[in-house]
Amino acid sequence: MIKIENLQKHFGPKHILNGVNLEFKDGEVTTIIGGSGTGKSTLIKCIVRLLEPDGGKIIVDGKDITHINNEFQLAKIRKNFGYLFQEGALFDSLTVGENVTFGLKYLTDTPKSEYAKIAKEKLALVGLKDIENLRPSELSGGMKKRVSLARVLATNPKVILYDEPTSGLDPIMSEIISQLILDLKHKLEVTSIVITHDMKSAFEISDTLAMLYEGKVQLAASKEEFKRTQNPYVKQFIEGSANGPIQMKISN
Ligand SMILES: Nc1ncnc2c1ncn2[C@@H]1O[C@H](COP(=O)(O)OP(=O)(O)O)[C@@H](O)[C@H]1O
Ligand SMILES: [Mg+2]
Repeated sequence: MIKIENLQKHFGPKHILNGVNLEFKDGEVTTIIGGSGTGKSTLIKCIVRLLEPDGGKIIVDGKDITHINNEFQLAKIRKNFGYLFQEGALFDSLTVGENVTFGLKYLTDTPKSEYAKIAKEKLALVGLKDIENLRPSELSGGMKKRVSLARVLATNPKVILYDEPTSGLDPIMSEIISQLILDLKHKLEVTSIVITHDMKSAFEISDTLAMLYEGKVQLAASKEEFKRTQNPYVKQFIEGSANGPIQMKISN
């Protein structure tokens, strides 16, 4: 289990996370929702310790990882996590197969002779086959997203963090990705943390939803509770209303 206690993170004078409390249960899908610039990516970057928090605690399976700075120990922590970046970040100079197995030589001691088998197996998990020799530039947006996900799966993470996995995709491909998140949860028994703006997807995949606003979690609860909440911030966000307590800053 991952437990976040009173987490703080600021960039210069901007206090982005200002006392975040949240738990991620093993084997569940927890979705983090909230407007652009509310600190969703910052929060998950703190969890994988790509960023160091300024205060509060991150506890993973009982171990406090908040301020570990030893590169070796950080690498050990990060091995448990698979991070599907918002931008996908595939290398155009490599083939699909090489992209999928890219992390293996840095993060594992898997023999090179097994790379082809692993690429095939991980691509199959995301519903793709026979594309190992293509380049990312030859793929559609949805396929790129799935190849990025296959790359995340290559190192067998226990926790998968999806940063806006359906943004920029059409509704059908969004649905395929949502189903894939659920499918992987069941097949691989992983813990999933999903950032999304896509409320249809959020209601479909989540065991728990958490809404971030003004540096804090406004509500962390089941889908059913989210649907009937009277919390005005949450209500406005899930209804997508321009009127309400949330003031969108034009600069964001
Ligand atoms: N490395 C950074 N340095 C300075 N400001 C940052 C950095 N990362 C994020 N921010 C700022 O923190 C705020 C939250 O960013 P982010 O976590 O990416 O939001 P979200 O993912 O919810 O859209 C934004 O205003 C962003 O500009
Ligand atoms: Mg983000």
